[in-house]
Amino acid sequence: MPHMSVRNVSPENHEWLHATRPPGLTLSEHIDALLSGLRADEDSSLPPAPVVQLHPDSFTFIDLFAGIGGFHMAMRANGGQCVFANEWDRFARETYRSWTSHEVDNRDIRLIPVDTIPDHDVLCGGFPCQPFSIAGVSKKNSLGRAHGFDDERQGNLFFAIRDIIREKQPKVIILENVKNLKSHDKGKTFRVISSEINDLGYEMREQIVDAQGWVPQHRERIFMVCFRRDAFTPEEIESFSFPKPPKRTPKMRSILEKTPVDIKYTLTEGLWTYLQEYAAKHRAKGNGFGYGLVGPDDVSRTMSARYYKDGSEILISRGEGQTPRRLTPAEASRLMGYKERFAVLMDKPEGFPQVVSDTQAYKQFGNSVCPLVVEAIGAEVVKVLQARQARLQTSQAI
Ligand SMILES: C[S@@+](CC[C@H](N)C(=O)[O-])C[C@H]1O[C@@H](n2cnc3c(N)ncnc32)[C@H](O)[C@@H]1O
Repeated sequence: MPHMSVRNVSPENHEWLHATRPPGLTLSEHIDALLSGLRADEDSSLPPAPVVQLHPDSFTFIDLFAGIGGFHMAMRANGGQCVFANEWDRFARETYRSWTSHEVDNRDIRLIPVDTIPDHDVLCGGFPCQPFSIAGVSKKNSLGRAHGFDDERQGNLFFAIRDIIREKQPKVIILENVKNLKSHDKGKTFRVISSEINDLGYEMREQIVDAQGWVPQHRERIFMVCFRRDAFTPEEIESFSFPKPPKRTPKMRSILEKTPVDIKYTLTEGLWTYLQEYAAKHRAKGNGFGYGLVGPDDVSRTMSARYYKDGSEILISRGEGQTPRRLTPAEASRLMGYKERFAVLMDKPEGFPQVVSDTQAYKQFGNSVCPLVVEAIGAEVVKVLQARQARLQTSQAI
């Protein structure tokens, strides 16, 4: 009998299965026992078993470097079920647990025995940006330290992902990183990643996607979507394409508070003067870096994990002669695409609560992926998974 896994079960049946699972049996073993006609539980007072329905769209995924769950909700919106999440930052885990109601493994990913990670169809991971980002590289170089794969603490994280892929052989891998991953270390870093993925038996498609199509923020990230060659036909893999952004680009107006904002978000005169002088100094030297002032009809710069420091990359204009203000955490959440409909999907009809300090919240958003972009990419991946499923069903029927 084919092994029936939990991912093929509809939510109602899932609940029933949990309620009737005898202690000591895993859910999969319970399903296997039910399906082979060996009722694992002999208690005749139990309600009759519903017919276990296959969910053609359902798939399982794991969420590595889980942050606050950008991948989680995007993949859930596509019919996926999370079977494992890992994140070592305590505050990010607090948000993740509150927003997704899903447990998060707290270990350093490099210390997890790979064979303890559950089987899954799709591996998701937005691995840390720092060693590969322009800011990270120049800062580390200036300290005379190595970067990329030479950086023991961060660079090796890709190899932790590789080890999981090698052991678990997911059908699809979705990785995300900063845009300059491709040019980092004269292209060597990306070449190593691509060749490792290729050697593991996967076909990689990569694209830089700007979240600007979905949210009023210019945020370019590289997405790598990889298909296991022995799980898909070449035509199925070829059928994958990255999503086109929606036609109408949203503007800041769509995420800004409609009511007056607490004065604590307004910059002090001192900080505003400092930022203006700093920008003028850099302009004189021919450098473009300075603050980014936006109004309701604009699109913002990329929100970074350092936003909590002075908020300089995205300042909201309060009109001529007024000091600007920074985004509130709720605005930052909307700017990242954490839409109400995701909150509803996560069973939080009142919206996502802020369970950490403002500082932590800004850091978490700056580090996060835009779930709307992942949702759109995930929808294209699901089409390929469905094509595969249809092919397998047809071949079984013959
Ligand atoms: C770029 S962020 C990913 C954010 C996530 N995609 C989201 O939507 O919020 C990378 C995350 O990896 C976590 N991380 C970094 N090194 C780690 C490690 N060795 N083990 C586990 N988590 C790690 C960081 O705490 C951070 O939250």
